[in-house]
Amino acid sequence: MLASGRGSNFQSIIDAINNKNLKAQILLLITDNPSAYAIERAKKHDIEHLLIRPKEYSSRDDFYRKITEELQKRDVGLVVLAGFMRIVGKTLIDAFPDKIMNIHPALLPSFPGLHGQKQAVEYGVKISGCTVHFVDEGMDTGPIIMQAAVPVYHDDTEDTLSERILKLEHKIYPEAIRLFSEGRLEVQGRVVKIKDSLPSENSLVNPPLET
Ligand code: GAR
Repeated sequence: MLASGRGSNFQSIIDAINNKNLKAQILLLITDNPSAYAIERAKKHDIEHLLIRPKEYSSRDDFYRKITEELQKRDVGLVVLAGFMRIVGKTLIDAFPDKIMNIHPALLPSFPGLHGQKQAVEYGVKISGCTVHFVDEGMDTGPIIMQAAVPVYHDDTEDTLSERILKLEHKIYPEAIRLFSEGRLEVQGRVVKIKDSLPSENSLVNPPLET
């Protein structure tokens, strides 16, 4: 698990494991920020945590080499980025092909990068949401695993939209990890196929569409 801040997505994954909705183990939290609240969450749940600060390494490559080494030492099967605010280095990507996931607070490919929610409000879209995707070398460009949509209202601000989207982030991230852990994600070029999927496992619209 890699996180830079608050760590509410990290918490949603901890909760899914504790509630037995997800069969997985979190082996390590790595953070690049000493004041990340995610560290408190790791302590509370007895999860090993490491602070790896880019400024302590002479290059970006060295920074990612260190992260890769620590993850490989613990033999992790999946690297989960939960609000990790950096573009992932090639060393890490090459070491974990199709085994790094990220969550982004917009419906990619719209509004990649920072402040996806603010970008959506300012652009004036009527629907936004969140996306779980595998990570490649681009910024939020990897194959999409799952998306969830929410309405955007005319009086929304970055904060109100973020709050609405975050609720869905907390649902789809553990869900995408569950599909991975069950060996049900198959990457074919840009497209991620979900084996034996139910309609609800592809996407989520909130409030639900009437049938
Ligand atoms: C989440 O909204 C996540 O989607 C976003 O940062 C927030 C982290 O919250 N990530 C990005 O914008 C990545 N480009 P959290 O620390 O409470 O999980």
